Amino acid sequence: MPPVFDWNKHWKVTCEPEEARKFATKMADRICDFMQNKRINLVADYGCGHATLLFALARIFPQTEFYGFDVAESVIQRNKERALQLDLQNLHFEQDCLPSPHRERTFDLVVCFATLHYIKEIGRAVKNLFELLNPKGYLIFNYPNIYTRVAYRTDIKPHDDCMKKRFALVLAGENLLSLNKIKNMLGARPKKFYSSIRANIYVVIRKTI
Ligand SMILES: C[S@@+](CC[C@H](N)C(=O)[O-])C[C@H]1O[C@@H](n2cnc3c(N)ncnc32)[C@H](O)[C@@H]1O
Repeated sequence: MPPVFDWNKHWKVTCEPEEARKFATKMADRICDFMQNKRINLVADYGCGHATLLFALARIFPQTEFYGFDVAESVIQRNKERALQLDLQNLHFEQDCLPSPHRERTFDLVVCFATLHYIKEIGRAVKNLFELLNPKGYLIFNYPNIYTRVAYRTDIKPHDDCMKKRFALVLAGENLLSLNKIKNMLGARPKKFYSSIRANIYVVIRKTI
């Protein structure tokens, strides 16, 4: 069994990397464009981390309720305190764990970025995220594929035990998806939402009913 990465401990001692913050800000612009002229009142971000995306969107859409979920209690606590300081009353955070999220609410938009890479039962996670959608809701996520595995096998240095542990599932090829697998699982065709390289494809899928 691959070693498990401790996200709670990680976020206790690590700040959001600058590169990740910049990319999340860029994704917030894309999601903002996507949300324009759509009836999106409830948004969830699974594996929200420092929630740069949600903090940006919650300011732009004060009438929309945003929920950030993450397995790491440490980052959830930090986000809650920041939302309170900024008086963002439409921004909420709760600890939750994929592949089996709580089903207390349903949403018009669910996003899951840079998180499925760490989940062994990735198919179950994607199906359960799709189940959280209201009728005509949207799911947007990226996922590891065969090209991600090749890229990580090339890029992660043999002595970098931390990265090897963090991406153990992808390196072992245990949780790889493809557009076809996603379509067969959900019975709905994923469309490309964003992609700069084939190792990191972001898709959007709409729930038809
Ligand atoms: C690389 S960070 C991505 C953060 C943010 N989504 C972004 O794109 O910048 C991955 C996040 O997923 C969370 N995570 C890892 N495994 C998870 C799980 N099983 N359920 C929920 N969150 C998880 C981690 O705590 C971490 O915050």
